[in-house]
Amino acid sequence: MNEKCAAGGGDYFSGNGSGEDSCYHKNASGLVAGYDQCRRTGNGSGIGRGAPAITVHGRTREDFYTGTADRREIKKVVDAVHIPVIGNGDVGDGPAAKALMEETGCAAVAIGRAAWGNPWVFGAVNTYLETGEILPGPSWEERLAMARKHLHGLCVEKGERIAVREMRAHASRYFHGLPKATVLRREIMKALTEEEFGRILTGYEMELGLEEPEV
Ligand SMILES: Cc1cc2nc3c(=O)[nH]c(=O)nc-3n(C[C@H](O)[C@H](O)[C@H](O)COP(=O)(O)O)c2cc1C
Repeated sequence: MNEKCAAGGGDYFSGNGSGEDSCYHKNASGLVAGYDQCRRTGNGSGIGRGAPAITVHGRTREDFYTGTADRREIKKVVDAVHIPVIGNGDVGDGPAAKALMEETGCAAVAIGRAAWGNPWVFGAVNTYLETGEILPGPSWEERLAMARKHLHGLCVEKGERIAVREMRAHASRYFHGLPKATVLRREIMKALTEEEFGRILTGYEMELGLEEPEV
């Protein structure tokens, strides 16, 4: 039987209440403060019965994405449970991850929106946490190559028709900040196949000569 941890937010991994160790609770702050939710589940259900970790996003459902995630709620959960807590909300780089971990004592950080069109964010955050180094962002070449690879993976997983449409949202993130990105996005919106998508990118690369931007 599935048992959802929080009143708010969806669950990527729902506790199943079975005592198995393969379940994770994803807990938005919820309609009731997340920490109350956690104490409740910790006392009687999911956490006490085997969830090995919990992810907390410090917003209520009503907050949607306004303001910044409330770190105090994450800290309350950290203090209330005896399993690792994964903090979540508004982390987009190493310093933000470090600050969240230091302020809340969470064991790890989950990254959502900042990973859209930017899968490098995980390596960048890990490097920063391990060494304090801020890695340079990916080159244009890497970004376009990753967009191609991403689309290909989506095609394999979901079929070309769905993949190309889904890729439109991702693509505009991959192209963020590139010269003539608006034109490129407009063209990509028209692509109906992986081949067309690739052809548009190749045309773009040739047009720009793929010179690195001056920062
Ligand atoms: C497009 C999108 C889909 C999401 N889907 C889910 C979901 O299915 N289940 C869930 O628990 N959270 C979901 N979330 C919330 C994220 O997991 C995360 O808690 C939220 O984006 C805050 O983290 P961030 O500031 O790093 O983006 C989704 C967020 C976005 C932007």
